[in-house]
Amino acid sequence: MKKLSKISLAVATVAAVGALSTSALAEEAGQKIGLSMPTQSLERWNRDGSYLQEQFEAAGYEVELTYSDNEVDQQVNDIQNMISDGVNLLVVAAIDGEALNTVMDEAAEAGIPVIAYDRLIMHDGVSYYVSFDNYTVGTLQGQYVVDTLDLDNAGDATYNIEFTAGDPADNNATYFFNGAYDVLAPYIEAGTLVVPSGQTDFDTVATPAWDTQTAMERMQNILASYYADGTQLDVALCSNDSTALGVTQAIQSDYAGDNTVLITGQDGDEANLMNIVDGAQSMTVYKAVANEAVVTLDLAKAILNGDTIDESLIEASGWDFDCTFDTESYETSEGNACPSFLLTPDVVTADNMVEKLVDTGYYTQDEDGYLHPAA
Ligand code: GAL
Repeated sequence: MKKLSKISLAVATVAAVGALSTSALAEEAGQKIGLSMPTQSLERWNRDGSYLQEQFEAAGYEVELTYSDNEVDQQVNDIQNMISDGVNLLVVAAIDGEALNTVMDEAAEAGIPVIAYDRLIMHDGVSYYVSFDNYTVGTLQGQYVVDTLDLDNAGDATYNIEFTAGDPADNNATYFFNGAYDVLAPYIEAGTLVVPSGQTDFDTVATPAWDTQTAMERMQNILASYYADGTQLDVALCSNDSTALGVTQAIQSDYAGDNTVLITGQDGDEANLMNIVDGAQSMTVYKAVANEAVVTLDLAKAILNGDTIDESLIEASGWDFDCTFDTESYETSEGNACPSFLLTPDVVTADNMVEKLVDTGYYTQDEDGYLHPAA
C-alpha cells in the first residue's frame, strides 16, 4: 500500500508537472494579443508586424494584426475592434501619438494593458514603451556628418546642408531631428555648415506621414530656389529612409551639381541599402526590429504573468543585444514618466553593411551586392 502510494505519488507528480506546463501553455494559447501597426506603405512596419506576429504565435498566443493605412480613424477603429474581440494585451505603434485618447480610455476601462511600440502614445493608460533610443538615432546621423566631413578640422572650408525631418504626428520625429541638430548646431553657428534655404526649424523641415513624394517635392523646391545657380549641396540630413529616398530622387533629377551629396537615413530599407551600395546614399541608422519584437514579447509575458517589471527583466530574459530600462526620458503626460525599454541603434554604411546586416542574419546579399531582408 505504502509502495503503491509512493508510485502513485510519483505518477501524480509527473502528471502534475505535465499538467502545469500544459496548462501554462494552454493559458497562453487562450490569450490574445492585439498588434496595431501604422501602415504597410513604409517598409519597416511590415517587418515589425511579421516579427511580432511570429514571436507571439511561437510563444503560444493568438494574434490579431492590423495595419491602419496611416489613417488615424482606421487605427482607432482597428484598436476598438481588438478590444471588443477581447484581446488580453495591446501592442500599438501609433500613427498619431496624440490622437488615441478615446480608444486608450476604452482599453483602460476594459483593463487591457498597452505597450506603446516604437512610437510613444501621449496617454497615461500606456503601461510601457518599447523603442530604440530615438535621440541617439539623430546624434548618430549628425556625428556621421561631422566625422565624414572632418568638420573639426575644416579650417575655412564651408559646407552646405539641408534638413528633412519626419512626421510631426510621430513623437519620435522631434527626437531624431533634435539629436541630429544638436550635434550640428555648433558647426552652423561657427559658419562651417551653411543652410542656404535657411530652413532649420522642425515644423518647416517636417514631412507629414514620412512620405517619400512629399520629401522629394520639398527638396525639388529647395534645389530650384537655392541651388539652381550652381551652389553646391554637400549634405542632405534626412531623418529616415523613406524621406531620404525622395530627397535622393530630387537630387538625381533636379540638381545640377556633382552627385556626391552626403545623405543620411534610418531603417535599412531595401531601396536605401541599394542606394548605399550604389553610392547614392551615405548611411542609414539601422534598428534591429527583430530584437524590438523579442523585447516586446518578453515584456508582454511579464505583464500578463503579473511579474514586477524593472531592469531585472533585461537580465532575466538573457537578450544577446543591448537594451536599457529608462524611467525618465519619455513622458505620456507632463510629469508622468513611462517606463521604457530602449534598444541601441547602429550606423550602417557601404563599408560595414555585410558585417552588420548579412553576418547577423538580418539580410541576405545577392551576387550584385544588393541586400534583401531575410525571410
Ligand atoms: C518612426 C520610426 C522610424 C521610421 C519612421 C517612419 O517612428 O521610429 O524607424 O520607420 O517612423 O515610419
